[in-house]
This record gives sequence, structure tokens and C-alpha cells, in this order.
Amino acid sequence: MVQVCDTLTTDFEKINIDPFWNVGNEVEHKNHRIHAYPAKFPAFITQKAIQYAISENIKINCIGDFFCGCGTVAFESKRLGFDFWGCDINPTAVLIAKAKSNTYSISYVKKYFSNIMDLYDARYNTHIMPSHINDRITYWFYPKEIFELSLLKQCIYDVVPARSKYRHYFLCAFSNILKPTSKWLTKSIKPQIDPNKKPANVRQAFIKQCIIMEKAIADEPCNSNANIEIKLKNALTLRRKEFVDLIITSPPYVTSYEYADLHQLTTLWLDYADDYRDLRKNSIGSNHNIFTNDCYTLLNCVGQEIVRDLRNVDKSKARAVAKYYFDMQRITNVCKSALTINGMLVMVIGNTEYKGVYIDNVKHLVKSMQNSGFSKIYVAKRKITRKILTPYRDKFGRFSSNDNQRKVYSEEFIVIGR
Ligand SMILES: C[S@@+](CC[C@H](N)C(=O)[O-])C[C@H]1O[C@@H](n2cnc3c(N)ncnc32)[C@H](O)[C@@H]1O
Repeated sequence: MVQVCDTLTTDFEKINIDPFWNVGNEVEHKNHRIHAYPAKFPAFITQKAIQYAISENIKINCIGDFFCGCGTVAFESKRLGFDFWGCDINPTAVLIAKAKSNTYSISYVKKYFSNIMDLYDARYNTHIMPSHINDRITYWFYPKEIFELSLLKQCIYDVVPARSKYRHYFLCAFSNILKPTSKWLTKSIKPQIDPNKKPANVRQAFIKQCIIMEKAIADEPCNSNANIEIKLKNALTLRRKEFVDLIITSPPYVTSYEYADLHQLTTLWLDYADDYRDLRKNSIGSNHNIFTNDCYTLLNCVGQEIVRDLRNVDKSKARAVAKYYFDMQRITNVCKSALTINGMLVMVIGNTEYKGVYIDNVKHLVKSMQNSGFSKIYVAKRKITRKILTPYRDKFGRFSSNDNQRKVYSEEFIVIGR
């Protein structure tokens, strides 16, 4: 780990890998695997960040994550007994994060589950489909699966009361069977139809998913009384002051995942939007949010230089990256205001490359944190172990070990500021 003195002359790529941030000390809790989520980070990063903050004498009451995704930091904070406040702009993320960090009684889960399945079987021959089915659902699913999923969803709504936390639990289970029961190309991180795919059976997929989730509840029950709040919110509009002592977060990477597109099946089935593309708005890092050229002067000097180089190779990409940097500059202000006086920000972020232009997100972030008033900034580098053997993506966006493909990140950085 190095302390940053001069941002502009520091070559962050040359920092040595810091083993402290590389691997965890324990096996990850099963709860972290109840629902797939792109760019979920390993749970041990939260534990390491807390350990590091305590060693730096931070008194932690409440932990924050303003890009909480599927709730990795939320659940770990709860497990370790710290209050947590988090938000995400993606309703699917909020659904999973809530399902993960609520405390559930196994006997209630079993009771609701068996009532849902009994109702599903009893109604199978009489269920009437809703009169309107979104066109996009008919694009992704065959009629049999649409019928069965619509029945299953109705049974969940009829069995589990609307305001019950068990609604989140079963809708999270429902959400995670949507890709396997659709035509979505298996394991693809791009929305793409596989014309040869045989969709999983809805009933069996739901039962299998509920067994996985029950096992997660049974895995080292978490009885802490920590207060966990998770909101559906745009972090850019967060105005709360001095209410978290430690922020542990991984912001979206620049123009990488289109979260709204990737979670469109859940969006459509759970009626989060009629048109899933509406949810791209304000989603940081989306390729669809661009920036007009004349606002480029609002970027810090690091951002301006990268955007200038990108303009020579791809003007539209340059505008998307400019928007990303502008948003990230606002986010470091939001984090600084949200932290208590001695608080600490821990961000996990990676660099990338586009058509030969090196996109130094770390340098931009450090500069941005300095401009927001963080005075002591440290940077550590870690290996992304899961991706060491598969550092390329094929044309469908699947990880591959074929070196003819596009390179993806194999290292990332922990940027710490006070
Ligand atoms: C890298 S992921 C976080 C993953 C998370 N650490 C986890 O383990 O699941 C970044 C998240 O930022 C969210 N996001 C993007 N723009 C946002 C915004 N304006 N406000 C809040 N969340 C946003 C995305 O929906 C995504 O869930």
C-alpha cells in the first residue's frame, strides 16, 4: 500500500500487489451466492476494510455503501454487528440486498414455501394469464414458461403478505430462476438469445433455488441486532451529512456493465418498469449516458487528459467516459459529506484500456478525492483471483482463456481516503 503524495506523477500500475487484500481468511457465507450479480465483489473485502479501519482507530458505528449492488457489504456488516446504510439505483439490486440482509426464520420460510407450491399445483389447470404480457417477455420466454412463471408469481403474491419481508425472499428466488427458464444465453453477461437452449423447468428451478436459499439461512445463522437500511436511490442525489463512519464500496466500472439491460427479466416480471431501458437513466457507467463536449471543462485534469485521448479514437465513447468521470467526481463529494469527521472511504476500482487508450480510473478517482477534501489517500493493488485463468472475453461476453479475445481486468485497486 502506498500513500499518494503527487497524484499526477504516481504510476499506480507499478504498485506491488498487496497480499493483505488478496485473499480472505474464511469461506464465504452461502448467503452471498443466493442470486447472481455482475461485479459483485468478494465478501472478504468488507472484512479486510473493517479490520484496516479499526487498525487506523476508526470508531465504527455505521457502515455505508452507496452502490450496494446485491448487498455484499450490507450482509457482512450485519454479520459482524455493525449498522449499515446503503442504496442502489437498480431495483433488482435492492431486492437481492434486502433478501440477503433480512433475518428469516427457517420455519416461516418452509411454511410459505410449501403453501406456494401447494397453490401452484392446485391452480395449474385453472390459472388464467394476465390479459397483457409485456412484448419483451414474449421475446425472452416460450409460452409454457410464461404461463408457469405468471402462475408462480401470482402464488407468491397470494401466499406472502405484501408488506412481509418474506415477499423479498421469495421474489428474490423468483428473480434468480428467470435467466435459466428463458432463452437467455447461459452465463452470458450480454442480453442474447440462445435459439437452441432448452429452458429449465419452472417448478423444479424454483424448488432448487429455494433449497439453496434455505441452506444459506442455515449456514452460520446471523443473530446480530445491527440496524440495516437499504434504499432504492440515486447516490448522486444523496444529501445526508456525517452519518456513516466507514464507506466500503465498488462503484460501477467505466462503460462496462449495463445493469438495466442485464436485469431486464426481473424488471419486466416484477413490474419495475414497462420499458427496462428507462432504468439506464442515472446509472453511472452506462454507455447510454453521454456528456456534451462543452461540459468537458468540468472534469479534473486527469479526466480531461483521458477524454482528450479517447476523442481521437472514438468520440461517442469519449462522451460516455466524460459523463462517468463527471458523475464519479460528484460521488466523491457525496461520500465526503456523508462521512463523520474521522471517517474513512474505501473504494474498489480497476483500470482498463480502450482501443489503445489507457483509462486510468484510479488516478482520476484519487484526484477527485483530493478535490473533494480527502487529505490522506492510500492505494493498494490486489489480484482478481477468479479471473486469473480466464482473462479474456469471447464475442458473447463470456469469460474465455483464448488470448485472441478482448482483455479484461486481472488486477484492481483499493483506494482509501480520510
Ligand atoms: C460494481 S456494482 C456494486 C457491486 C456490489 N459491491 C456487490 O458486491 O454486489 C455497482 C453498482 O452501482 C449501481 N449504480 C450505478 N449507478 C448508480 C447510482 N447513480 N446510484 C446508486 N447506485 C448506482 C449499479 O446498479 C451497481 O449495482
